[in-house]
Amino acid sequence: MQAAPERIVQAHAPSTSVVESVAEAEPSATASALTVTAAPTSAAPSVPAEKPVTPKAEARLYGSRTRGQWIKLIVLLAAGAVAAAAILVLAARGVTTLPGVPEFLARYPGAYDLPDATEPGFPWWAQWTHFLNIFLMVLIIRSGYQVRTEQKPPAFWTPKRGGKKISINLWLHQSLDILWLVNGLIFVVLLFASGRWMRIVPTSWEAFPNALSALLQYMTLDWPVETGWVNYNSLQQLMYFLVVFIAAPLAAITGVRMSEFWPKDAKRLNKIYPVEVARAIHFPTMLFFVLFILIHVFLVFATGALRNLNHMFGGTDAVNWVGFWLFAAAIAITAAGWYAARPLILAPIAKLFGQVSTR
Ligand code: HEM
Ligand code: HEM
Repeated sequence: MQAAPERIVQAHAPSTSVVESVAEAEPSATASALTVTAAPTSAAPSVPAEKPVTPKAEARLYGSRTRGQWIKLIVLLAAGAVAAAAILVLAARGVTTLPGVPEFLARYPGAYDLPDATEPGFPWWAQWTHFLNIFLMVLIIRSGYQVRTEQKPPAFWTPKRGGKKISINLWLHQSLDILWLVNGLIFVVLLFASGRWMRIVPTSWEAFPNALSALLQYMTLDWPVETGWVNYNSLQQLMYFLVVFIAAPLAAITGVRMSEFWPKDAKRLNKIYPVEVARAIHFPTMLFFVLFILIHVFLVFATGALRNLNHMFGGTDAVNWVGFWLFAAAIAITAAGWYAARPLILAPIAKLFGQVSTR
C-alpha cells in the first residue's frame, strides 16, 4: 500500500517586531509547498523505517482540481458559453421578425431625448471619481473575498480607542469602504449640482421600453447607436442608476450592519434588521457588482473602445489613443494597489490607527 503524503506545517519562532512577524506570517511559495514524506503507518509494515519512500509525483491541487482538470473545465465552460450565446443571438433575431416587434423597435429606438439642460461630455470630476471608484472597488472586492474565505488571518487589528479585534483584511476592507463612500458622495453631489444627473437617473417612463429595445438590439449583435458623449442608451442609464443609487447604498447599509460601527445595544433596531439579513444580502451585492463590471468593461471595449475610453479617461469625444493610455495607467495603478495590499505593507499603515498583532 502506498503511504499517504502529509502536510508539514512550518512553525515560526516568535519574533520581536510586529511588522517582521507579519512578514513571516505571509504565505510564501516555500511555506505553502507540499513536503511529501512517508507516514509511518501500521498498514505498511514492509517499508523499512530508515529507508525513505519516494512516492510517485502527486498532481498538485489548485483548490479542488488539478491544473489539467481546471483547463478541461474552463474549455468546456467557454464552449458552453459560446453555444449559449449563439442560441441567444439566433433567438433574439427570431424575435425581431415577430409581428409588432419592428414597429416597437422603431417607436423605441433604445434611448429617449434628455431635457435640453444637460451638457454633453465628461467633466474632470466624473473622470477622477470613476477612476478612484475602479481602484477602490477592485481592492474592496478582493479584501471582501479574503474576509469571506480566510481561515487563519495573517494579522489582526485592534482600534486605538479599544474595541473588537478584527482581521487585517477586514480592517483594509472597511478602510477602503470609507474612502469609497466619500468618493461616491462627491460624485453624487457634483452629479446633481451640474445637472448631469439626468444622464443616469431615468426622467421618463420611456426609459423602460427603450431599455428593452436596447437589450434586444445588443442581443441581435445589431447594436444600438453609440451616443455616450451626449446621452446613454436607456439600458445603460438603468444599469448605471442601479449601480450608483441601489447597489452601492445596499452594500453600505448591509456592510455597516455587520461592522463595529453599528450600535450593539439598539435592541429594537437589531430585531427589525438582524445581522443575518445583512450578511445574506452583502455577498450577492458583490456578485452583482462583479457581473456589472464584466459586462460594462466588455461593452466599453466592444462598442468603440478608443472613443469610449477617451470619454471616461480623456474627457474628449475624439478617436485616438490618448484615452487608452490613460486607461492603461489607471489599470497599472490599480495593479500596484493590488500588489501593495499585503500584510507587510498594510501593517505599518494599520498601526497608525490601532494595534496590529499576529494573533
Ligand atoms: C476597467 C474598468 C472600467 C472601464 C474601462 C470603464 C469605462 C467606462 C466608460 C468608457 C464609461 C463611459 C461610457 C460611454 O461613454 O458610453 C463609463 C461610465 C460609467 N462607469 Fe465605468 N468603467 C470601468 C469600471 C467601472 C466600475 C468598477 C464601475 C462601478 C462599479 C463603473 C461605473 C460606471 C458608471 C456609473 C458610469 C456612468 C458614469 C457617468 O456618466 O457619470 N465603471 N465607464
Ligand atoms: C460601505 C460599504 C461597506 C461596508 C461598511 C462593508 C463592511 C463589511 C463587513 C463588516 C464585512 C465582514 C462581515 C463578517 O464579519 O462576516 C464585509 C464582508 C464582505 N464585504 Fe463588505 N462592506 C462594504 C462594501 C462592500 C462592497 C462594495 C463589496 C463588493 C462589491 C463588499 C464585499 C464584501 C464581501 C464579499 C464580504 C464577505 C462576505 C461574506 O463573508 O459573506 N463589501 N463587508
